[in-house]
Amino acid sequence: MRPRIDSGPPATLIRTSRAGATAASLPLVVNSPRLRSANARAERHPTADILRNVPFPATRLRRLRRTGALRGLVRETRLDAGDLILPLFVTHGRDRREPISTMPGVERLSIEHAVEEAAAAAALGIPAVMLFGIPAHKDEEGSGAWDDEGVVQLAIRAIKEQLPELLVIPDLCLCEYTSHGHCGILHGDTVDNDATLPLLARTAISHARAGADLIAPSDMMDGRVGAIRGALDEEGLADLPILAYSAKFASVFYGPFREAADSAPTTGDRRGYQLDPANGDEAVREVLQDVEEGADLVMVKPALPYLDVIRRVKDATRMPLVAYNVGGEYAMVKAAAAAGALDERATVLEVLTSIRRAGADAVITYHAKDAARWLSETD
Ligand code: PBG
Ligand code: ZN
Repeated sequence: MRPRIDSGPPATLIRTSRAGATAASLPLVVNSPRLRSANARAERHPTADILRNVPFPATRLRRLRRTGALRGLVRETRLDAGDLILPLFVTHGRDRREPISTMPGVERLSIEHAVEEAAAAAALGIPAVMLFGIPAHKDEEGSGAWDDEGVVQLAIRAIKEQLPELLVIPDLCLCEYTSHGHCGILHGDTVDNDATLPLLARTAISHARAGADLIAPSDMMDGRVGAIRGALDEEGLADLPILAYSAKFASVFYGPFREAADSAPTTGDRRGYQLDPANGDEAVREVLQDVEEGADLVMVKPALPYLDVIRRVKDATRMPLVAYNVGGEYAMVKAAAAAGALDERATVLEVLTSIRRAGADAVITYHAKDAARWLSETD
């Protein structure tokens, strides 16, 4: 039998305390008709049981909001530098720092500067960086992606050499390396799913050999996680985990990133392989499929417009979940802050906390360094 709502504190303790009334004249809240109907509801609906409340005025939720210490004591969601992943754009060439106009504060960095940036992140307590490569040459197949001397492979080695503890997660996709900008091999005007899989697997092996800590496919081909897992296992890399961009939506919020990574498709768009923004059930199916194929962590991307998907995926899978707070989300906050419409620090911390509350264990965000700094100041 479920405990009844009115089986808790003694009645005298939950008398209401209207000013001027004596204790004896106060109405008892227990056994009120309202409470009896709340009990009946709780009996019928198990979830109502969890959120069961003694009604006002016995319950006053403001009591625990009175001071910072009380609010801290009952805070449900924590944000910590240890939950953040900083994306870095690594470009070919030397001594380059190229600002990205739509993402103020983010730059394309040549390898030595990427190492400096990774060190700055690590010093702030950020445990991981994600790498995107901007190669000197592109071709139809995207062969730069699996070049063992490619820009990302060299960057992985350089960062791991200086910062062996920092997790290095190269993004695994072909779109930064293909001349047409699509995430797979093009046959006519469609992306050939099955012909793309071996190229992704090959790229995964190349990332692994360079020293990647996680393999992170972002292409949205069907079956890629299984293909990559199989290839890694065959190479004796059974211990290398996969972070799958599982629920990746065909989002307008990738616009600033495509400027940064020079990866916009030259014809068409990505709606033939990325998820329709209207579909939540399908997003859950994508994630379940990746889990079945061997994903160790799953991702929802973008984050803010898809908080419901983050929660649904967490509830459906209980998998470690990463959310990607993408370039367009970053650009909106920066633009609003620059216009004086929002306070940047408070906005960023609220946004990141909300993504965590929705169910994300970790957040990939261009705000990572700022957020880590602000969090260390408030603590
Ligand atoms: C590559 C990739 C993209 C992002 C991460 N990996 C772009 C895309 O799919 O077009 C987006 C990141 C961002 O918008 O910040 N497949
Ligand atoms: Zn891609």
